[in-house]
Amino acid sequence: MHPQNTHQENFLDEDEVCNPSGNTHIQDLIETRLSRRQALKGGIAVTTTTLFGSLSLSACGGGGGSRDDSSTSTSLALGFTAVAKNRNDLVTLPAGYQMSVLHALGDPLHYGDASWANDGSETADSYNRRIGDGHDGMQWFGLSDSGSYQASRSDRGLLCVNHEYVVSPFVLHPSGKTAGSTRVASEVDKEINAHGMSVCEVRRASSGTGVSMVRGSSYNRRVTSATPMDFAGPAKGASLLQTKYSTDGTATRGTNNNCANGYTPWGTYLTCEENYLNVISRASGDDALRSAKEVTSLNRYGLPQNRKSPYLWDTAGSDDTYARWSSSVTGASAAADYRNTINTFGWVVEIDPFNPDSRPVKRTALGRFNHEGCWPCNAVAGKPVVFYMGDDARNEYIYKFVSKANWDTADVGKGLTAGAKYMDEGTLYVARFNSDGSGDWLELTFGKNGLTSSNTTYAFSDQADVVINARLAADILGATKMDRPEWGAVNPTNGEVYMTLTNNSNRVSPSATPTGNQLKPDTANPRYYEDVYTKSDGSTTTNKGNPNGHIIRWRENGSDPAATRFTWDIYLFGAQADAASNVNLSGLTDVNDFSSPDGLWFDSRGILWIETDDSAYTDVTNCMLLAAIPGTVGDGGAVVAAGGTPTLKGASATPNTVRRFLVGPKECEITGVAMTPDRKTLFINIQHPGEDTTPNFSTGSFGSHWPDSQTSSTSTKRPRSATVVITRTDGGEIGV
Ligand code: FEO
Ligand code: CA
Ligand code: CA
Ligand code: CA
Repeated sequence: MHPQNTHQENFLDEDEVCNPSGNTHIQDLIETRLSRRQALKGGIAVTTTTLFGSLSLSACGGGGGSRDDSSTSTSLALGFTAVAKNRNDLVTLPAGYQMSVLHALGDPLHYGDASWANDGSETADSYNRRIGDGHDGMQWFGLSDSGSYQASRSDRGLLCVNHEYVVSPFVLHPSGKTAGSTRVASEVDKEINAHGMSVCEVRRASSGTGVSMVRGSSYNRRVTSATPMDFAGPAKGASLLQTKYSTDGTATRGTNNNCANGYTPWGTYLTCEENYLNVISRASGDDALRSAKEVTSLNRYGLPQNRKSPYLWDTAGSDDTYARWSSSVTGASAAADYRNTINTFGWVVEIDPFNPDSRPVKRTALGRFNHEGCWPCNAVAGKPVVFYMGDDARNEYIYKFVSKANWDTADVGKGLTAGAKYMDEGTLYVARFNSDGSGDWLELTFGKNGLTSSNTTYAFSDQADVVINARLAADILGATKMDRPEWGAVNPTNGEVYMTLTNNSNRVSPSATPTGNQLKPDTANPRYYEDVYTKSDGSTTTNKGNPNGHIIRWRENGSDPAATRFTWDIYLFGAQADAASNVNLSGLTDVNDFSSPDGLWFDSRGILWIETDDSAYTDVTNCMLLAAIPGTVGDGGAVVAAGGTPTLKGASATPNTVRRFLVGPKECEITGVAMTPDRKTLFINIQHPGEDTTPNFSTGSFGSHWPDSQTSSTSTKRPRSATVVITRTDGGEIGV
């Protein structure tokens, strides 16, 4: 979802700040600890006036030539011409590449429903069988002839795609969303069914080039915000999950605002619930009906009393279908109302795409927060399976989960049974990034680290309470507040973990006195500067803080994913190529400058694909996809970021190590990325084209007309989120 929306329907999310905890601020430690590290390495002292570049060698050991040339393998090289920045209403690809649309909002998965009519006439019920809105994270699963998981297969597979939200032009309704303080029930019904995720079978034509969805496949499936699903793990059956729908707290309906994703080594899909506050309201006067603990939890998760959700689904009627979207006390007990609705969202949900009749499972051991995605380590037989996760909101945290069970390759293909084995028991951790370049994983286990019933911030009852209130537990442990953790990715060649920190307007100058939710920069989130943005009317506005984002990475101690310590640096800083050198810290140029990294994914060769969801550089270029060949943690050195905060950066970018592969159409975000195992078909998603412009449904005027604009420069059709198939015209491997 777009980070800094102007549309009132688009809201919250990432921009909603609700972390008021007073964690120790590591800025206070920077001077001493970073200086000590450099002293140990024979370096010179960092001062806040030191300019970019002058420290990069000394902090790496001193002298001896630039370390900014990446030490990446010479056998792997990017092999395409960089795409120029542009603001066309097109997907722009390098020469020698071609694209098609696999599926877009409203396309029927089965026969019996009409094709998308471009007039919003599709029924709410039909969205149980149509592609949903807001395409986001996705994953390819090879499908064998016998219908099982075949990881190596490229010509037949199941593509799982998240449908994060209903994009603000509301093109799925005849004339957009009907205005007013109460919603029209038929529109809400359609929106509930347009959220969630889809599974569709995909086949490559025997000629080797055409890749298309198999309409009518028995694997094709929709999971929506109304689909029955189960809870598993420590919070299953907890009183905090009891609802009128599931009086014993073991089940719920729907997954919502599914942003990024993940997959498991055993072949299931993970879909992650992020901005569920888009659809959850809470009544005025509700605090008085709650315990002090409940109020603490509700406020920490961004749901104060008298809070109306942007979508107002709870206003469409008194029926359970709508009433459940208000997380308010209305009955005599939790089993008699929907006071706990909020606790039923914010989870990682496991789906077995090979078994269309299976019920999705919310894996509570992985904690509840604004889950962006959930990415596995490189699984090794006999070792735990580890998943990395981010909480995408300003000032929130990075987590990991370490399974209790050790990986057994015999579990491949065992679906949700394997999920129960590896994801219901284990240890949840949250990250602290120390200013000397080390890091600690802090354990979120009831009874440890002060997470007890005598804690004065929040008296935890048990592990169910810890995972349901993972943010509060992380506050207490002193985790590091980050610049909005978006996607993570694990390098298949060395296990190093990358995570995008997309931007943060809440960072203030180190010399300022923070108020409210503002934070001073720290070594892991080191930036404070101002970036000028030119609006369409020619006027300008200034974005402050960290407008362009960065990508952090870490190496677990001993290269053991289950380690409790790690070493980190900042792989890449987003920036305009013409920005000051202490803003453009990675030396980006015209072929690779970008802003607000969001999607992130390693292919099996070790090429890192970086996608943007930006609103700071969109006065120059639409959002984009870049390909990169990263080095390793520690291949750069110490620098001082704009604003004066010292930090640790990776090797600078060159055209050979970071290069722009694609630019998207107007007002879109590029998100979701998957590839067939032979690396000859790339899938990416175009989300919310035309989102920033108020549409005129009667004249057919929209901020974008993509995907129709790809083939018609005079299109008046509605914009739609869609999955794009990209191949090389010569049938070769993508990117090289
Ligand atoms: Fe849905 Fe964090 O972007
Ligand atoms: Ca985003
Ligand atoms: Ca600018
Ligand atoms: Ca995202």
